[in-house]
Amino acid sequence: MPLDHHPDHVPVPKRRFEYDHFQIRTLTPHIGAEIRGLDLSTPLSDEEHKELRRALHDWMVLVFPEQALNADQHKDLGRRFGDLHVHPQLRGAKIPHPEILPVHTNADSPFTPGDGWHADVTCEEIPLWGSMLYIRETPTCGGGDTLYANMYMAYELLSDPIKGLLEGLSAVHDGAGPYSEQQAMGIGLPTPGEEFPSCEHPVVVRHPDTGRKLLYVNSAFTTHIVGLSAAESRGLLDLLFHHIASTHKLHCRVHWAPNTLTFWDNLCTQHHAIWDYYPHSRVGGRVSILGQARPSA
Ligand code: SIN
Repeated sequence: MPLDHHPDHVPVPKRRFEYDHFQIRTLTPHIGAEIRGLDLSTPLSDEEHKELRRALHDWMVLVFPEQALNADQHKDLGRRFGDLHVHPQLRGAKIPHPEILPVHTNADSPFTPGDGWHADVTCEEIPLWGSMLYIRETPTCGGGDTLYANMYMAYELLSDPIKGLLEGLSAVHDGAGPYSEQQAMGIGLPTPGEEFPSCEHPVVVRHPDTGRKLLYVNSAFTTHIVGLSAAESRGLLDLLFHHIASTHKLHCRVHWAPNTLTFWDNLCTQHHAIWDYYPHSRVGGRVSILGQARPSA
């Protein structure tokens, strides 16, 4: 006889396992699906577009293997879902595709982008709601996978007293931390005369499309919780970051073959690129899609 309620499990929302315009294979019961049956280099029909949005709401991370995309097709695909974001490190850069953030790592790289739990560029006032990473070359030794985590479930698994404590709190997300470290290595500069973005977001926000609550702090950008002492803020953020990193049922792991595109909802997920392939190379680029409004509780 199943228990009515188990403190380590949360009710699973209704999701679809079958769609009319493509086939899916789920990566875990809680997050991630591989999609086959669509050619992303050609424009999506209205029905395909609508179903893909639905699948993104259901599974949060969609993996499309065996896609042949050039830079324009990658950008066109992103634009089908909204305006494209230009990364703060590429604003003003004289490059052919400033909307595509290069994600290249090789034997000369001092770091790999995204090697730690984060959501992309949450230091922007209007954050990115989605990102599409296209990996063209994978390490010949294997590895270079990406972990993703479900932030609805991260919130739902918190106990009621901790949920109550987070209610009404907001936190500062600052680009200066991750980006100035990279700048010191000579990588990526902000627009001349401009600072890296920084802003405040609620610690718990509601997804504008699904209406569900999710945990919205991440270890790359969130520096402190407003109104708490430095020690309280550090303690509470560390508790939440540990919860996100160590609760494995929140996670799925995307294994990239060459020419795979992964599309994730950047509000309700976080991700972590695994750099286990040094000195081998991994090559790709990311297009990100702007949200419509500031995240709200
Ligand atoms: C990123 O943070 O967008 C990069 C993720 C990856 O390289 O897998």
